[in-house]
Amino acid sequence: MRKSLLVIVIIALNSCNKTNSKAKTFDSMNNTVVNSSIERKIDSLLEVMTLEEKVGQMNQYNGFWDATGPVPNKGNQAEKYEDLKKGLVGSMLNVRGVKQVKALQKIAVEETRLGIPLIFGFDVIHGFKTIAPLPLAEAASWDLKIIEKSAKNAAEEAAAAGLNWTFAPMIDVSRDARWGRVMEGGGEDPFLGAKIAVARVKGFQGNDLSSPKTIAACAKHFAAYGFIEAGREYNTVDIGTSTLYNTVFPPFKAVSDAGVKTFMNAFNELNGVPATADRFLQREVLKKDWKFKGFVISDWGSIGELVAHGHAKDLNHAAELAVNAGSDMDMESSAYVEELTGLVKEGKVGKELIDDAVRRILRVKYELGLFDDPYRYCNENNEEEVTGKKKFHEDALDIAKKSIVLLKNENDLLPLKKQGMKIALIGALANDKTSPLGNWRLAAKEETAVSVVEGFQEYKENKLEYAKGADLVIPNTEISMTQEVQVNTKDTSEFEEALSLAKRSDVVVMVLGEHGMQSGEARSRSTIDLPGVQQQLLKEVYKVNKNIVLVLMNGRPLAFPWAKDNIPAIVESWQLGVQSGNAIAQVIYGDYNPSGKLPMTFPKSLGQVPIYYNHKNTGRPIREGNVFWSHYSDETNDPLYPFGYGLSYTSFSYNNLKIKVNGQNKVHVTVDVKNTGKVKGKEVVQLYLHDVYASITRPIRELKGFEMVELEKGESKTVNFELNEKELGFYNNRGEFLVEPGKFNVFVGGNSKAELTNTFILK
Ligand code: NOJ
Repeated sequence: MRKSLLVIVIIALNSCNKTNSKAKTFDSMNNTVVNSSIERKIDSLLEVMTLEEKVGQMNQYNGFWDATGPVPNKGNQAEKYEDLKKGLVGSMLNVRGVKQVKALQKIAVEETRLGIPLIFGFDVIHGFKTIAPLPLAEAASWDLKIIEKSAKNAAEEAAAAGLNWTFAPMIDVSRDARWGRVMEGGGEDPFLGAKIAVARVKGFQGNDLSSPKTIAACAKHFAAYGFIEAGREYNTVDIGTSTLYNTVFPPFKAVSDAGVKTFMNAFNELNGVPATADRFLQREVLKKDWKFKGFVISDWGSIGELVAHGHAKDLNHAAELAVNAGSDMDMESSAYVEELTGLVKEGKVGKELIDDAVRRILRVKYELGLFDDPYRYCNENNEEEVTGKKKFHEDALDIAKKSIVLLKNENDLLPLKKQGMKIALIGALANDKTSPLGNWRLAAKEETAVSVVEGFQEYKENKLEYAKGADLVIPNTEISMTQEVQVNTKDTSEFEEALSLAKRSDVVVMVLGEHGMQSGEARSRSTIDLPGVQQQLLKEVYKVNKNIVLVLMNGRPLAFPWAKDNIPAIVESWQLGVQSGNAIAQVIYGDYNPSGKLPMTFPKSLGQVPIYYNHKNTGRPIREGNVFWSHYSDETNDPLYPFGYGLSYTSFSYNNLKIKVNGQNKVHVTVDVKNTGKVKGKEVVQLYLHDVYASITRPIRELKGFEMVELEKGESKTVNFELNEKELGFYNNRGEFLVEPGKFNVFVGGNSKAELTNTFILK
């Protein structure tokens, strides 16, 4: 076909999209429905595309600026430009900013034969330029509305920079604090994880994907990446069917049902098959059973890595395995662009699979409105106006305060008095304006977080002094996404100054923990205690002043049993993003009453890991006089702090747990919650279920409902929960969902150790 004729065909298709966009029947939050008018346009487009152009749509290249993975040998900048012009690129990642996006989009639209627009992806993990708390921190808020809002703001800011697609949310359930990527997820629980995952997808995608304020989301990493052995990054995963269906899948199934547009597969192998080449995961479960209509992208280079895994003979074989398994787009392996055309010609890959993959990709591009206007996300004035706007900072502060978890508050040391106190702030992290941004913040500027020192300076009627005490990171070493953090394990030369400050102060606020770059991708740790000389510093300060408030900054659960036993007040503040110091100061001074609850169990020691609340009972759960029961000889089974745990400046009581079974698989639970303390406060009321005996053994308790209540002092409220089939059932080892009759125990309270209990029988 001649080029001029083709251009007319494409223009006709595009304008046809415009006129029909109002008459959309497509439900953008439902993955099982497709829009027939879009499908017709895709049919026509597929008819005019060459095989090479189709394969091009399945190819994603990294941009020419930042890398978030090993930089490949192939596809240097000049070659990539050439491929772009030939229509051999469907998407780019790590290109950002209207100017850059526009420049590349222009090549795709104006210089390629068919002018199909690119889709631009980026890791918008917790904010784009305005960095919000880590996803794990936000999970601690248990506040789905604010989590959705945080994703919505991130989408708006990223979209204003020309982006259409985020590689988020990461929804890998994980029980292993050693894994650096727990900072990116929703924690250890599939029920909470699924709710948060849906909230994030809604926030990113909104109700109208074609709005220039929304972007496509990506559920990652499919599947079971959170279960890598020993928490070591990129390691092997070997888990049973029951864990896969009941623990790993629920957040993925929930977002597929909620209309997430893309999935990313995973680096890990699962039970012997690398996820990228896993037909069961991608074709059977996702595309067939869950009827997912979006597309699946590989992880960075994961198609090429099928060779290192020992699953593919070479890159050609890797491309064949991945595409046949259902990976639709290749991120940075160059495997598809180099090998797929040949594989189709040889008959090793069916044409219909290529068409299916391309259809899925084009569908998302149509839904984003890119065919209507490929530059719809490219308005420089809008970029300027939206980037870093005040509202994003206000919301970031709100969610940061809600993400803080008060772990200990002996003798009501907190909140601190606002006047007449001599406050010592100690710790390198207290004065750090970059580390609280955490990892995954490629678009943000360094030094843009409000430090704790700055946050405390707002409270002017106390005397504030700061001493570092010790460096956390060896000075002048490079800290970046691609470098290991070099922790100071020796230098204690500045202890003395901190000790003398502590001696002359009324209260010492010590800010300790991990550097922001100690968690995230490729940041597994083999220890989970306070890094470097910080524990030593804490103990020394304690000798001279016991009035210590320990503020922890970290991207994973840490083990700090000595601090728990000795330090009177402990505040878990994670890495809270741009408003970090303000949020911490406002909580410590009582301008915000903390309400966060841990989304992951905190272990007492590394030996307990993986430790999680929803474990099985075993055949020997209780000590019966001798040593033959399920335990350690040198450690208790209890965690340092359980899942769901978090204190407030007030207290709550729980009473009157009532259960009514309303016919078939419908259970109504009510409980009275009262604010028994002295101030107004919020509580996350949690309901846990125990299916006492079943054909597949069930965990000792599983979260099946939660609700946030806000109560004035002395006020009570009755909280209602409905348990239906979804909450009462489970998957068996054939992947079938069952609800079995029998006895169930219900527990309701403020954390996963809740003691108020009642029972019902399901007939
Ligand atoms: C590798 C990570 O595993 C993935 O989550 C991320 O989206 C890509 N790199 C792109 O940066």
